[in-house]
Amino acid sequence: MANNNAQKQKEDTLLEKIVSLCKRRGFVFQGSEIYGGFAGMYDFGPHGVTLRRNIESAWRSAMQAHDKMAFLDSSIFTSPKVWEASGHVSGFNDPLIVCFSCHSKLRADHLLEGIAVQADEKMTEGELNELFDANRTKITCPVCGKKNFGKVVQKNLLATSTLGKFEEEDQDVYLRGETAQGIFINFKNVLDTGFYSIPFGIAQVGKVFRNEISPRQFLFRKREFEQMEMQYFVHPKDAEKAYENWKEERMRYYVGLGIAQEHLRWKQHERLVFYARDAWDIQYKYPFGWDELEGVHNRGDYDLAQHQKFSGVDLRVTDEATKERYLPYVIETSAGLDRTILAILAESYDEDEMNGEKRVVLRFPPALAPVKAAVFPLLRNKPELVKKARDIFALVKKEIPETVWDDNGNIGKRYRRQDEIGTPYCITVDFETLEDNTVTLRDRDTGKQERVQSSEIIQRIKSTYAL
Ligand code: GAP
Repeated sequence: MANNNAQKQKEDTLLEKIVSLCKRRGFVFQGSEIYGGFAGMYDFGPHGVTLRRNIESAWRSAMQAHDKMAFLDSSIFTSPKVWEASGHVSGFNDPLIVCFSCHSKLRADHLLEGIAVQADEKMTEGELNELFDANRTKITCPVCGKKNFGKVVQKNLLATSTLGKFEEEDQDVYLRGETAQGIFINFKNVLDTGFYSIPFGIAQVGKVFRNEISPRQFLFRKREFEQMEMQYFVHPKDAEKAYENWKEERMRYYVGLGIAQEHLRWKQHERLVFYARDAWDIQYKYPFGWDELEGVHNRGDYDLAQHQKFSGVDLRVTDEATKERYLPYVIETSAGLDRTILAILAESYDEDEMNGEKRVVLRFPPALAPVKAAVFPLLRNKPELVKKARDIFALVKKEIPETVWDDNGNIGKRYRRQDEIGTPYCITVDFETLEDNTVTLRDRDTGKQERVQSSEIIQRIKSTYAL
C-alpha cells in the first residue's frame, strides 16, 4: 500500500512538473488564465506551437507515404443534418452524475469502472440508473469522499452554437465532434475528381469540440482539441486485412516518433461505440496510467449508409471488374494531436545532474524539438564577438529556421534554459572563433562540448533529423 501511494505521488508530481515546465517555458498556458481559467481549454505558447506543428507534420508525412492518400480540410460548421445522420445527436452521450455534497460533475461510467462494474455504451438512461442504484452504496465521490449522488443523466457531447444574425433565420448548429464526418460527406467529391479509386484513404487534421463532463489531466481530456484522422475506404471483403495492416502501421509510427515500445500497448474496446464493428486503442503509459492515445476502428459501412439514407445521394461505388455496386467499408485511424503532445512531453521529460548541478531536460527527438539549435556569443559586451556570432547565427538560421539567438545571462544559465525546452545543440562563439572559425558545439543529452569548424555545424545538426 505504501509503495502504491509513493508510486501515485511520483506520477502526480511528474504531471505537475510537466504542467509547470510548459507554462514556465512557453509551451502551454491555461486558457483564459487572467480571468481565472476556463475549464478544458489550453493555449499553446511559442514553443508549443512549433512542437505541435512538428508532430502534425510527422503525421502528415506518415500518411503521405501512401500512394493513394488524399488530404482534406473540411469545415467545422456543417449542416445539422450531418450529425443527425451520423448518430451523434442521439447516441454521442456520456452519463453525468452530480455529487450533491461537493457539486462535482462526474462520469457515472467512470465511477462504476472504479468498482469494476462495466456500463454498456448502448445502455439507456433508465438502465444506467438501475445499474448505478444497484451499486450506489459502494461508490464514493473521488473529490469529497461522500456518497451523496443524484440521478444519472445522459449528456450529449456535441457542442452547439448559433449561426446568423437575423433572429428568425438564426440556426442552431453543432460544432464538429469528430473530423471524420467531414471526410464521409466529401467521400464522393474526392472520388469524383478521378484521381482515386478503392482502396484509398482521406486524411485530415482539424479542431474538434466536445462538451466533456469532466475535462481533466491537462491536455488529455479537453473540450477543444485537434484530431489527425484518416479514413481508408476498402471493399468489404478486404476490410479485415486492411484493418490489421493499419493497426501494425500505426503502432510502428509511434515507435518511429520516439515513444518507447514498452510505453505503448493495444487495448480492445469491450463496449463498442455506436458506429464501430471493432475498435482497438493504442494506449500510452501517461504519468497517471495507461490510457488512449489513438483509436483504430473498423466502422464498416455505417457512416456511408447513414449519409446515403439521410441525404438521398447514392454513395455506392462500382467494381470495374465485376460491375458490383457496393458501399465501401471504412478503416479509421484517429489520433489526438494534444494527447500525442502530452505523450511526447512525458516521454522526453527527465531530470539529471550535470557538472554537479541538477537540471531539467526535455530529451525530444531532434525532428520534434521546437528549437533545433541556439547560438550564443560568449560575452554580450564584446562587439567583435557579437558580430561574429550574429554572422554565424544568420547562416545557421537560413538553413535551419528553428534556430534561436540567446545572449541572456551566463553560459551555464543559457544551457539550462535551452535544456528545458529540449534544444539538441548549443553553439558558442568565443575568442578562438575569431582566430580559427571554430565554435563550441554542445550536445543536450551528454553535455559534451566539441570544437567544430563553423562551416560544418549546419550539416552536423541537420544529420540528426530528417528534413
Ligand atoms: N472518429 C473517431 C473518434 O473521434 P474518439 O476515440 O472519440 O474517436 C479519437 O477520439 C482520438 O481523439 C482519441 O484517441 C484521442 O487521442 C482524441 N481525443 C478524444 N477526446 C479527446 C479529448 N476530450 N481531449 C483530447 N483528445 C481527445
